[in-house]
Amino acid sequence: MEDITDIQNILQFYISAGVDQTCGDDICLLKKDVQQPQTAPLLRPATTRLAQDMTASRQNARELCTKAETLDELRQLVSSFDGCALKLTAKSTVFGDGNKNADVMIIGEAPGADEDRIGLPFVGRSGRLLEKMLSAIGLKREDVYITNVLPWRPPGNRTPTDAEIAVCLPFLKRQIELINPKIILLLGGSAANAVLDNTDSISRLRGHFLDYTLSTKTVIPALASFHPAFLLRNSAQKAKAWTDFLRLFKKLKEN
Ligand code: URA
Repeated sequence: MEDITDIQNILQFYISAGVDQTCGDDICLLKKDVQQPQTAPLLRPATTRLAQDMTASRQNARELCTKAETLDELRQLVSSFDGCALKLTAKSTVFGDGNKNADVMIIGEAPGADEDRIGLPFVGRSGRLLEKMLSAIGLKREDVYITNVLPWRPPGNRTPTDAEIAVCLPFLKRQIELINPKIILLLGGSAANAVLDNTDSISRLRGHFLDYTLSTKTVIPALASFHPAFLLRNSAQKAKAWTDFLRLFKKLKEN
């Protein structure tokens, strides 16, 4: 969409159709390259309010997290949190699953359709590939703890926005603290960038142990690798993922 008039026409259409809520957190109308004409009184208050809502939600999530002393408390907090619009379109809140005393914590991007339906992370095709890769290094699903950056499925499995990730990140960080794993495995670029707080591509990040520092200053080695969904589409990359998993195996044995 290039013209602000198009945006206004669409908004007018939504209003005439009775739409009075948005269910996406992305503030795309504030893009710098969109010229804001003086005749756009509709846009400013709505977008400013959205931006304020997002900042408040992020702050709210951070404050809530400090109250969670156990994983069950954190699960409750996430389930009752209303600061991320993805919850409106998702069927389930998909919290972490697996061994609470695990040495390895695996973090993916967000639930897909199967995870949303069942309410558990990595239970669809990607999950089955992940389980095969784990078993190749002698680990079962029950040995590890598995979670995602986002507890709600983005509609149509779209890539999560930065705003959605920023709002949900405090919950993930608290989950990492409560699990306190020996090693973190980050699957895919979204998880790697969110947890390691960088913007490097997954091709650059994968295969190296990087430091993840808890609020207590404890440092946990974090290894990024390709997302299983990517590997299902690009089987030629499985060899690289295999070397990553071998590196994980070696590191586990050192610990
Ligand atoms: N992809 C993810 O990143 N997480 C899941 O739970 C399922 C698919």
